[in-house]
Amino acid sequence: MKKNYVILAIETSLDETCAAVTIDEKIISNVVSSQIDLHKKWGGVVPVIAKRAHEERIDSVIKEALKQAKIQLKRHAEFSSASHRFRIKSGMTRKVQDDNELFYLIDAIAVTLGPGQALALEVGIKKAKEIALTFKKPLLTVSHMEGHLLSSFAKNSKAKGSKIDIDSRLRGNDRKPFSLLGLLISGGHTQLVLVKAIGDYELLGETLDDAVGEAFDKVAKLLDLGYPGGPIIERLAKEGDEYAFNLPIPMKGRKDLTFSYSGLKTAVRYLVDDVKKEHKFNRQTICDIAASFQRVATASLIDRLKRAVIINKPKGLLLGGGVISNVYVRNKIRSSMKTFNLPVYIPYSKKLFTDNAGMIGVAAYFKAQRGEFVSDVSSVDRKPNLNFTDNPC
Ligand code: KG4
Ligand code: ZN
Repeated sequence: MKKNYVILAIETSLDETCAAVTIDEKIISNVVSSQIDLHKKWGGVVPVIAKRAHEERIDSVIKEALKQAKIQLKRHAEFSSASHRFRIKSGMTRKVQDDNELFYLIDAIAVTLGPGQALALEVGIKKAKEIALTFKKPLLTVSHMEGHLLSSFAKNSKAKGSKIDIDSRLRGNDRKPFSLLGLLISGGHTQLVLVKAIGDYELLGETLDDAVGEAFDKVAKLLDLGYPGGPIIERLAKEGDEYAFNLPIPMKGRKDLTFSYSGLKTAVRYLVDDVKKEHKFNRQTICDIAASFQRVATASLIDRLKRAVIINKPKGLLLGGGVISNVYVRNKIRSSMKTFNLPVYIPYSKKLFTDNAGMIGVAAYFKAQRGEFVSDVSSVDRKPNLNFTDNPC
């Protein structure tokens, strides 16, 4: 019989302090404490500020995730072996009286090992190790990017999710060729990944310099729009003419599957300088620049994506990462995939587009099924440059 896993997941790779409770692919609670207000005035994430904020918030975020999951945790425990273990620990008859006791209803702890900011990652890892050792729970370490990649497999607490079929082959039980393509577009990464099975990945290509989300953020800064730039650019672009300015489409037609966004950012810088010199830096011009930038940044993603589809002939496309919050980007991707008749999967909730611990719990569940638990908890250390295809065990 398939074993169920109740997982407490922790994610602190950048500027969101996150904790979630998952039961298999189901996300029962998913708490995110954003630090955007702390970093805004610096125009980006400041690692020492992020570290301190994670330290201040981590306990209450975990407590809140457990509290929100309490009813379902107890219900689940009544029908599972966890309840047996809990009853033994708590003297058979006692009910869950104190929130600390909720830790006994968890089967395993999961934490993001990398990639991310070293100082930020450390906070979540330290806490996860502490809980694993105190409550004698097994630990799973997860790649942040695998979390984004598998976020479309997540389901809500009522087991409803995006209509993705987890074929048994994708679980890795039977390695017949069945491939999905993942496009991960976030503030730190722009990657194309071939999913041969869950846990079996090939990195097809990534950015040579800036990530696409980073380009949105930097262009917003050039336009004096604040941080993070993605949502602001998307909003202003709706009022702009996307053909007002002729910007270059990065990497268009290139034979490999790499991306590059720093040249486009520089082109926007020159454009902004020119517009300012001509005293035309007004709201309409800003909207036109935002729209023109968004058009070419998206066109580059699609050029690379189409090439990956032609070469790899996947059965579906998984989208992940903060930039998929952008409706323009999503619509363009969807319509470009129609020619290939390729289903496009996105997570069931917007909350799963940007950083969160629910996606870490889901990725950890698949690892738990494969028995990939950490063998020596005390030796676990953050991996800021964790590579996509490294298995963070
Ligand atoms: O996945 P994520 O939350 O964090 C990282 O792992 O980097 O992605 C954050 C990135 C930021 O660069 C942010 O500007 C971008 O996602 N983003 C957007 C939008 N919402 C967030 N980019 C474009 N349009 C959006 N609506
Ligand atoms: Zn992320």
